[in-house]
Amino acid sequence: MQKSDREWKEPVTELPEGLQADESARQYHYIDRAREIVRAKSAELGRPLLYCVHTFGCQMNARDSEKLCGILQSMGYQETEHEEEADFVVYNTCTVRENANNKVYGRLGYLNGFKKKNPHMLIALCGCMMQEEKVVEKIRRSYPFVDLVFGTHNIFKFAELTVQAMESGKMVVDIWEGTDQIVEQLPNKRKFRFKSGVNIMFGCNNFCSYCIVPYVRGRERSRRPEEIIREIREFVADGVVEVMLLGQNVNSYGKNLEHPVTFAQLLEEIEKIDGLERIRFMTSHPKDLSDELIAVMAESKKICKHLHLPLQSGSSRLLKIMNRHYDREQYLALVEKIRAAIPDIALTTDIIVGFPGETEADFEETMDVVRRVRYDSAFTFIYSRRTGTPAAAMEGQVPEDVVKRRFDRLLKEVQTIAAEKAEALTGQVQEVPVESVNHQDPHLVTGRLSNNSVVHLPGDESLIGKIIPVRLEECRGFYYYGKMEAGQ
Ligand code: 5AD
Ligand code: SF4
Repeated sequence: MQKSDREWKEPVTELPEGLQADESARQYHYIDRAREIVRAKSAELGRPLLYCVHTFGCQMNARDSEKLCGILQSMGYQETEHEEEADFVVYNTCTVRENANNKVYGRLGYLNGFKKKNPHMLIALCGCMMQEEKVVEKIRRSYPFVDLVFGTHNIFKFAELTVQAMESGKMVVDIWEGTDQIVEQLPNKRKFRFKSGVNIMFGCNNFCSYCIVPYVRGRERSRRPEEIIREIREFVADGVVEVMLLGQNVNSYGKNLEHPVTFAQLLEEIEKIDGLERIRFMTSHPKDLSDELIAVMAESKKICKHLHLPLQSGSSRLLKIMNRHYDREQYLALVEKIRAAIPDIALTTDIIVGFPGETEADFEETMDVVRRVRYDSAFTFIYSRRTGTPAAAMEGQVPEDVVKRRFDRLLKEVQTIAAEKAEALTGQVQEVPVESVNHQDPHLVTGRLSNNSVVHLPGDESLIGKIIPVRLEECRGFYYYGKMEAGQ
């Protein structure tokens, strides 16, 4: 599966026997080796070595970054938020839309300046963008100061590749076209003490015609339920009260396991974990959302009453060309069924404007679904042409100014409805897990409602991780100010 690479370097020192077969033991070996190198450099400089991981894109990437941070910490690096003082900078990239790529190129030029002042600085690029051949070619050609480039399939090899970059002093590039490997039990550093993302599956098999994800994240692979439960138990023992189960299409979880399990069955098992209070998940593909899942959600005490249900377009004609496998009527019927079973559920969505061939009538159909469903919030995207996807070669790419005008209309509609829905909750008392002290105002703490909205309330550090009743006193469009209910 691995592409050969002319700059590939054999490790300078031999790998002890027995480590070839056990991938995680192999990686711990390289972590130890990196730690020696870091310790020596740190002694030479008379200060600890610092790292900075910058994440672009989705929650999957954010979760991957936590794993990279875990490995870097185990190597002896300490975290900094400032790239300019870091000895190791990692960009975990996204390529779902073109502007994500451009941001990375822009920042790389900037990083080169820091590296000139700090020549032993290491720069690594990883994530979805690196899975594109033309990107890697461009990096080799135009950004020779980058030390390490790897992709989405071999992120577990980060320690090994780092040692190679450190020992060879040359750019190391290792991109795989795919993998069926899932390496468990590597180091991890959670961003939040009381909540964590948990991968339940990797990749996507849907090939929506606009989307590059199946090409850069590979085919669907589910983690074994035992591994997922073990990881969540460990998190809970370490103070986690809320998990976000992550997958491109969680509704098709478990189909390719040796002993198939449905997503709803997995949720039932996770619900039984003592000490875990809240379960979230994303993303749900409407075509695979089962009655079994709706029933489990309706019964559950722990699953948040929130579904992210990407619509993409309200036009059946476009949905077909997008290869979404549902039409407008099926989507609306699904929403009705979900709301009948779980009346207070929050619904959020993703919508693309300007898909090739989108007419004013198609766009009006999208606006109509938005008005009918009344989403609690929606992510709206301007269609971005991704080379290699079927849509990129389609006729009728919509002119930029037309797309922009439609996008603005959609955004206005979505925001108006979201604000009305948020306003309707004002005055209610909800159970809220407190997540952090507010960045801007240290007298406030911040938590998330079951529907994923943010609430700020007076409080201090001691509340973090506690679940408290909060009265939503004032709605500010997308977030609330609240107060802890008396008697607590
Ligand atoms: N252009 C614009 N938006 C896209 N998305 C995926 N591919 C593209 C693209 N080429 C959006 C979809 C998806 C979300 C994660 O990103 O709405 O649900
Ligand atoms: Fe992309 Fe469609 Fe897969 Fe989502 S379901 S990652 S939009 S191909």
